[in-house]
Amino acid sequence: MQNFNYQTPTRLIFGKDVVESLPEVMSGFGKKILLTYGGGSIKKIGLYDKVKGLLKDFEIYELADIQPNPKYDPSVLDGVRICKENNVDVILSVGGGSVLDCSKAIAAGAKYDGDPWDLISYKVKAQAALPIVDIITLAATGSEYDPGGVISRTETNDKIGYMDSLLYPVVSFLDPTYTFTVSKKQTAAGCADAMNHIMEQYFCEDSTLLNDGFMEAGLKSLMVNAKKCLENPEDYTARAEMMLDCTYGCNGIYSLGNSPSGWPCHGMEHALSAYYDITHGEGLAIITPRWMKHILSEKTVDRFVKYGVNVFGIDANQDKFAIAEQAIDATYKFFESINIPMHLKEVGIDESRIDEMAKHVADNEGLENAWATLMQKDIADIFRASL
Ligand code: NZQ
Ligand code: ZN
Repeated sequence: MQNFNYQTPTRLIFGKDVVESLPEVMSGFGKKILLTYGGGSIKKIGLYDKVKGLLKDFEIYELADIQPNPKYDPSVLDGVRICKENNVDVILSVGGGSVLDCSKAIAAGAKYDGDPWDLISYKVKAQAALPIVDIITLAATGSEYDPGGVISRTETNDKIGYMDSLLYPVVSFLDPTYTFTVSKKQTAAGCADAMNHIMEQYFCEDSTLLNDGFMEAGLKSLMVNAKKCLENPEDYTARAEMMLDCTYGCNGIYSLGNSPSGWPCHGMEHALSAYYDITHGEGLAIITPRWMKHILSEKTVDRFVKYGVNVFGIDANQDKFAIAEQAIDATYKFFESINIPMHLKEVGIDESRIDEMAKHVADNEGLENAWATLMQKDIADIFRASL
């Protein structure tokens, strides 16, 4: 087991109607709030009016229209400007992972005198950030319990995972009822994203029985509960379990003491969604089984055997490569069964920019140091196999 140094400062407030305590929570951070949200889902579900009503005694500034795969320009830049011009005390993010990720970059940019891209691109280390409170409305990223935000810069095809311990939300409100309206497409993509967060931690050199047990349970719970959410979007228990599965998924708690894996599928997917603006979870679901097939070898096979036997119940009394192949096939079939398009062509990606994207990943993601080394040619092969 490896050494680690772990702290999550985020307070989770979970359950139906917990948002009622929003005024009390917000009053701990000041009067001036930047309310951030996306393209309108929070208005449709009545959450916008609810929040505005609860916070009637606060001074509220708003940043709307934050897009999926949130953009540096205009969203981060606009948010930073509003915070600076009005001396905002705290950011309240209401929406999915994209709104929250954008809010994190704004929180750091608001306390920095230079170009916020200096921070996101790791040229400069942030010294401070505004506090962030969130009401998460989509179970997927785990951004509500992690210190990262993923920001896209369209003109350079960059999609950067910006991480800093200053960016943990101070408080996250998790009310599963706000996820009842999440579409089937986004529910399935959220499940694939959270499953991949677990797999990125599971497939590594050095893990523990404890961590493997947590992660295998997390994967099984996601598969069972996502299906229930798709069958009955208002199944409170299934939405609640899925929500927590996702919250834990990206926090690192599942892999304390494990050796690093390099998060290869995220490294590759971020290029796909940077170049083509696709849904992150769908990109991951498409790549994951192809990545698994590509890296299956004498060195990696035992992890696939454990995964196949413990997550999918595959008969352990077979040749280890046969078990691994069945595990990879089961992974593919599960994603297919929740109606995720399983080919890049189905999400609008063709052959034309594969080599360019593979180079971008190889130059920027450090996957030569992943658990199973990926060089530019490996990355291009995985993309081509995903077409
Ligand atoms: O924009 P609105 O109108 O709010 O609609 C959103 C959006 O169209 C909608 N939605 C959200 N909550 C809803 C809802 N629709 C109906 N009812 C609700 N309750 O869903 C659509 C997708 O929202 P988005 O926030 O983009 O989805 P998600 O939460 O999956 O976030 C994806 C982003 O997070 C990044 C991804 O790369 C992507 O940019 N990630 C962030 C991570 C992190 N911070 O730790 C880790 C992940 O690996 C991931 O990379
Ligand atoms: Zn992800």
